[in-house]
Amino acid sequence: MKHLFLSGFAVLLLSSGALADNITYRADIRPLWEKQCMACHGESSPSLANFDDRKDEYKKLQRGPRMDSHASLTSFVGWPDSGALMRRLDDGTHTRDGKPGNMYVYLGASEAERQKNLALFKAWVGEGGWVLKRFKDLTREELGRMRVEE
Ligand code: HEC
Repeated sequence: MKHLFLSGFAVLLLSSGALADNITYRADIRPLWEKQCMACHGESSPSLANFDDRKDEYKKLQRGPRMDSHASLTSFVGWPDSGALMRRLDDGTHTRDGKPGNMYVYLGASEAERQKNLALFKAWVGEGGWVLKRFKDLTREELGRMRVEE
């Protein structure tokens, strides 16, 4: 009985580990972000509020809103800019018009690299939390499935 219980527990641990794979901001997303996103979203970029005030100017300068910490990056996942990261990075599988989001191209130089890096972002947010809706349309359950571990 004890043996059965223990092996059941081991299977549970293994399978949940395989699913979640513990993708973290520190170990996985930060290095990827530095390579692919930092040039335009780093410390010299404006906060989202300042960006929104002078959007056209910043777009011309190839500057997006600043997202150079766990907290600022996750504000584009869950709240207040809910779903922004997913809408921009999705490859077209979940977008309304079936086209990739306009930041998808920055995920890598080849389609294989973009897919690999998209999978990493998806695993970090959580497969069930990869929801492209804005806050007003988001359910509590959907919000609860966004993992974004630091
Ligand atoms: C060459 C510059 C450049 C790179 C590289 C880049 N971005 Fe952007 N990003 C922009 C600009 C400019 C905007 C604002 C214009 C727009 O809305 O399209 C933007 C907008 C965004 C937004 C929407 C913010 C909002 O207003 O809600 C998100 C999310 C985003 N980028 C994520 C990323 C991620 C993640 C990466 C890396 C995979 C990345 N970007 C790489 C320039 C860039």
